[in-house]
Amino acid sequence: METIVRTKIVDVLKSKAFGTTVNVKGWVRTRRGSKQIGFIALNDGSTINNVQIVVSVEDFGEEYLKPITTGACISVNGVLVRSEGRGQEAEIQAKEIHIYGTADPATYPLQKKGHSLEFLREIAHLRPRTNTFGAIFRIRHHMAMAIHTFFHDRGFFYFHTPVITASDCEGAGQMFQVTTMNLYDLKKDASGSIDYTSDFFGKQTSLTVSGQLEGELAAMALGSIYTFGPTFRAENSNTPRHLAEFWMIEPEVAFNGIEENMQLAEDFIKYCIQWALNHCMDDIRFLNDMFDKELIDRLNFVLKQDFVRLSYTEGIRILEEAVAKGHAFEFPVFWGADLASEHERYLVEVHFKCPVILTDYPKEIKSFYMKQNDDGKTVRAMDVLFPKIGEIIGGSQREDDYDKLSNHAEEMGVPVKDIWWYLDTRKFGTAPHSGFGLGFERLLLFVTGMGNIRDVIPFPRTPNNAGF
Ligand code: 4AD
Ligand code: MG
Repeated sequence: METIVRTKIVDVLKSKAFGTTVNVKGWVRTRRGSKQIGFIALNDGSTINNVQIVVSVEDFGEEYLKPITTGACISVNGVLVRSEGRGQEAEIQAKEIHIYGTADPATYPLQKKGHSLEFLREIAHLRPRTNTFGAIFRIRHHMAMAIHTFFHDRGFFYFHTPVITASDCEGAGQMFQVTTMNLYDLKKDASGSIDYTSDFFGKQTSLTVSGQLEGELAAMALGSIYTFGPTFRAENSNTPRHLAEFWMIEPEVAFNGIEENMQLAEDFIKYCIQWALNHCMDDIRFLNDMFDKELIDRLNFVLKQDFVRLSYTEGIRILEEAVAKGHAFEFPVFWGADLASEHERYLVEVHFKCPVILTDYPKEIKSFYMKQNDDGKTVRAMDVLFPKIGEIIGGSQREDDYDKLSNHAEEMGVPVKDIWWYLDTRKFGTAPHSGFGLGFERLLLFVTGMGNIRDVIPFPRTPNNAGF
């Protein structure tokens, strides 16, 4: 076969160089045709669109074409011609075909017919080859680019925080331990506690739940930073919105108060959504038509809205009124309650019909590092609540007073001796500062319209599920 430099299908479909010979390589989506002429729909992942390869059955021979079935991988040299069919501008008239690998129709699990998302989760090694997951993973890439571009353009520095840590940032005790100890022969001290001095790091360590604490250290030097990395939570919540391993973006800004923090969060989310509409329209249109007919409208709608800002206390009042009018929630509503997703979604979808930023939560239900308000009861927290998702961002202004912070940490059971380095920032040149965390997969749920978080990350980790 003649060697011709490969063109990606995304570029072939845009090309107007009719009459030239091109090479494309990819995976066969379908092959159909008659005794004389065959049509191969070929996809190489560069776009959701396939290029049509037209083959003369007589030239190639039926035997040669037989193994070119759904899932096979081929390389095609052929002439780019204007397509007579609807939809595509260009197609390729095949001159030479090389078969890299066949896919026996008797055993290849992805056949022409649509498969359920549940079934596709069981073949996570092959699902990127479907239209749906190709679209989702391309959008995932573009969202990562949006995030880096947003912060870079605003003078933020991308700061890498550790994955292995000895401190529980959120203080919720939901950490996966990291150890090289022999679990069959654990050394214990006189009181029966495990002796970690012989462990790899000489102390108990875990996978991080958040890069925030280290991010704050960086903000106290570089001014504006963000992290973007994997985080891990061993919370046993089997919901469509929770993963045990998810990616989080955490900006942290010196001198920002809660107001600037809210504005940053709103600008950031809108920028990402606008980026998706600018860069991923083929894929979004596909998902809109396949799964969620309101997706594009919803994305445009959120861009136009000023997010409603109100306090937790006002939020509870609205929810109590709803209960009084007969609305039934599964979980109780009272001042001090942690809001469940049903409450958040009521505020967003039923009451305000708009994204909501809720602030000033009771201190008991939020993390130790949040700035305490003068009322002695609430902290300067902010959660951004989104339609269909509930909480998409959690953040706060940080407590910058050394005594208040260390006392509150003790109260909340966070051992001060483990976070002495974090507390040091409040001892040396402390400053007001704020930040937040965006769950990357929650953003992707919103942008793709998918209903289950397992479908927006290539290889989901959830309770009892770490295959692939
Ligand atoms: O509200 P969270 O727990 O806040 C923090 O971790 C702070 N340290 C952030 C900060 O202020 N720098 O988590 C932040 C976001 C949530 O709003 C949610 O979008 C996402 O992370 N998130 C999860 N996403 C998927 N699966 C889970 N189990 C998640 N837990 C939180
Ligand atoms: Mg939260």
